[in-house]
Amino acid sequence: MIRSAHLNWLAALAAQFVLVTHANAQAATDDGPALLAASGCAACHGPAGLGTALAPPIVGSTLTAEAFRAGVRNARGAMPSYSIEVLSDRVLDALYAYVSNREGIGSPVGRIDQGGEIYERVGCYSCHSNQGQGIMHGPRIGPEPIRWDRFVWYVRNPSGQMPPYSAVVLSDQDLADLHAFLESRPRPQPVESIPLLAP
Ligand code: HEC
Ligand code: HEC
Repeated sequence: MIRSAHLNWLAALAAQFVLVTHANAQAATDDGPALLAASGCAACHGPAGLGTALAPPIVGSTLTAEAFRAGVRNARGAMPSYSIEVLSDRVLDALYAYVSNREGIGSPVGRIDQGGEIYERVGCYSCHSNQGQGIMHGPRIGPEPIRWDRFVWYVRNPSGQMPPYSAVVLSDQDLADLHAFLESRPRPQPVESIPLLAP
């Protein structure tokens, strides 16, 4: 499983260098999927940019133009960085125009109570603690969970110690409930209000 994901990744990486040279020509059209394919992004982010097991969704994301640009030019994790020689600003702008003007993965309305119940039932608490504040086995994930599209992708395709939860185990509605539950967790007390920690 890990091995085949790795091979896919290598194949995708090789393919993008061949494809990316065609992207300049494609930028003239506003055919987003063609542009994603020509720039090599589709190989990892999917033909419609909605994400795959290899990479998170980029279509419909709430990333600002600056964050998008930074995410491509100075990439994190398994994402390759694209220099201006490889991908022009014009193509990058055309890609951003496309991904920011499209519906992404839908976000059902989250229900806090159901979310709390699921959080306990599937055992998120065992690594992230009962309020999402984090413990030895997992980081803090509330009250400011990562944004919705990233959240769905991460829970379904975690990259480190965390076990994956497929759509069979947790539906989009379940994840929306979990997200709402985490958002509603109590904020940590400001340091100044704790006498022992006050400056
Ligand atoms: C080899 C696979 C691969 C290719 C090709 C690829 N990406 Fe990515 N991309 C990733 C992965 C994996 C991440 C998640 C990185 C992380 O945060 O750990 C990512 C993250 C991103 C992000 C940041 C998303 C966020 O939520 O912060 C943007 C923006 C992005 N990619 C755009 C693109 C664009 C545009 C292209 C084509 C020019 C592209 N990517 C090509 C794998 C790829
Ligand atoms: C076995 C322990 C374990 C369980 C169970 C677990 N997680 Fe995690 N989780 C982790 C660890 C460790 C990380 C840090 C990154 C990694 O190793 O994957 C993490 C990272 C995350 C992140 C990303 C945080 C960030 O800032 O990028 C989210 C979101 C998350 N977990 C949500 C959940 C939810 C929701 C559940 C229950 C459905 C859950 N986790 C169950 C261990 C766990």
